[in-house]
Amino acid sequence: MAEAKKIGYGDLTGRVGVEEIRARGVDVDLLIKKLIANAAAEFSSTYYYYTILRMHLAGHEDYKEICEDARLEDRAHWELIVPRIYELGGELPNDLPAFHNGAGCAPAKLPSPPTAVNILTLLLESERCAIRSWSEICDLTFGKDPRTYDMAARILNEEIEHEAWFIELLAQERDHKTIPSGHFRRGEPGEAPYSKNRRFYNP
Ligand SMILES: [Fe+2]
Ligand SMILES: [Fe+2]
Repeated sequence: MAEAKKIGYGDLTGRVGVEEIRARGVDVDLLIKKLIANAAAEFSSTYYYYTILRMHLAGHEDYKEICEDARLEDRAHWELIVPRIYELGGELPNDLPAFHNGAGCAPAKLPSPPTAVNILTLLLESERCAIRSWSEICDLTFGKDPRTYDMAARILNEEIEHEAWFIELLAQERDHKTIPSGHFRRGEPGEAPYSKNRRFYNP
């Protein structure tokens, strides 16, 4: 392990919390860049556009509720990860369109026509993008930056659940098949058991 850069007594120009992970091999600038892209994906690509998708699941109250859980949990992911960007010395772009355009996943825009099958397919593919993005953060930080790793792993746990939910719903809606996800409804909308550190469903 490389020696961590020394931060002088009372020196506010550096952070021990950053130098220690850099010394362990984390590319901090790259990590900040990817965290901002992931935060943008959570906030704009999913939370914002999922709101529109949920509105259009009219007539499918069960799908709406599950979409709502995924939507609110993605908002929880945004809230969980943003402080970490600042701790690492980064910051959010002071420009919402630039932030949106830098997202690590394509915007989950309302498909045309907005059928349940098309919406569920889009939701599924958005969750898959999120799994890839958060796995990448886990790889960048594993064994080197336990704090970011812990947050990314909590988020990843929920993204993997989200993918399973939408596989189950799409299989039912499009293929009239049963592919169980193991899902049972959250205690309340947007429960986010991992990223909000709430109780898991464990009867
Ligand atoms: Fe998310
Ligand atoms: Fe998600």
